[in-house]
Amino acid sequence: MTKMKDRTLTSSGFWVSQEAPIECENPTPTPQAPAPDILRCAYMELIVTDLAASREFYVDVLGLYVTEEDDETIYLRSTEEFIHHNLILRKGDLAAVRVFSYRVRAPEDLDKAVAFFTELGCEVRREEGGFVKGIGDSVRVIDPLGFPYEFFYQSDHVERMSWRYDLHIPGELVRLDHFNQITPDVPRAVKYMQDLGFRVTEDIQDEEGTVYAAWMRRKPTVHDTAMTGGDGPRMHHVCFATHEKHNILAICDKLGALRRSDSIERGPGRHGVSNAFYLYLRDPDGHRVEIYTQDYYTGDPDNPVVTWDVHDNQRRDWWGNPVVPSWYTDGSIVLDLDGNPQQVIARTDNSEMAVTIGADGFSYTRPTEGEASMPEYKQGEYKLGHQL
Ligand SMILES: [Fe+2]
Repeated sequence: MTKMKDRTLTSSGFWVSQEAPIECENPTPTPQAPAPDILRCAYMELIVTDLAASREFYVDVLGLYVTEEDDETIYLRSTEEFIHHNLILRKGDLAAVRVFSYRVRAPEDLDKAVAFFTELGCEVRREEGGFVKGIGDSVRVIDPLGFPYEFFYQSDHVERMSWRYDLHIPGELVRLDHFNQITPDVPRAVKYMQDLGFRVTEDIQDEEGTVYAAWMRRKPTVHDTAMTGGDGPRMHHVCFATHEKHNILAICDKLGALRRSDSIERGPGRHGVSNAFYLYLRDPDGHRVEIYTQDYYTGDPDNPVVTWDVHDNQRRDWWGNPVVPSWYTDGSIVLDLDGNPQQVIARTDNSEMAVTIGADGFSYTRPTEGEASMPEYKQGEYKLGHQL
């Protein structure tokens, strides 16, 4: 990524730079074919093992709107959405992600997607009638990182529910905001995603240049997807946006009232990365769902890339609250185009969990400050094997 000498330290404690081509030892080839013009992350298809339990979580608790459903499948959308769905829950034996789906600008972009991924040597399938209800001509691929990606333009239009205040709940989910993917080699993932037209907005690195995570966007927000370093391909989370912080607090209150506080994995809190207010939940199958609000505009071509030191304890939570170990270790498996689990490959670069709450026992790990610089009640916080 960007070399340290080309970065500027801000008064907020992170660095900024211009996006630079990254160096990686095992880059994906850059296709000659132009990339499809991707608009945004559009929907995720999840395999769930108990459709009724998942319906209760996503519809009765979180308030997503049902566009269409049958005994096998539920198509859900957020308040401001006008395409057919943002989330598909499909009944299956093994909880997993069937596809990460992106909308492209025009039908011709599907031809570009076929050419781009064919040149990369990827498995490519096209279904003119669409792979799922409500979506037309679509291309599905297994991308160079092993993730099932879909691209489509045509979608049935449905009612945007923004004006239906009579139906809104205090924790209203208004948009699909982003995906988050776990992959062993983050620089390789970033290089491929840059070829696909994505821009880096933020990343986490160390002094040696190890990259722990990177946030990448098409729409002018912090991200459409993030690449998190870990054993992969796996899905870390899918994220819906609310309008304001109080909506997230309302979800926490509701889960408490329903005696479902175990669904809350981490947060609520304020991210360092992205500056967004956040909450992480786990659905009945353990799929992780983030609720998120108030990141920032990133659409200018010279938008500064923000780089965080992996040893900055405010990078993942601006208030310095520790990250729970399950957040680092757990993820959902992803499927190939035939519905079989993709093989998971171990990360060989340093692990963010290990360098921040691992063997040295420090949760606060600024290199110039030891654990002794922390108040006693913070020392050893969330050290593995040491937490309550
Ligand atoms: Fe996220």
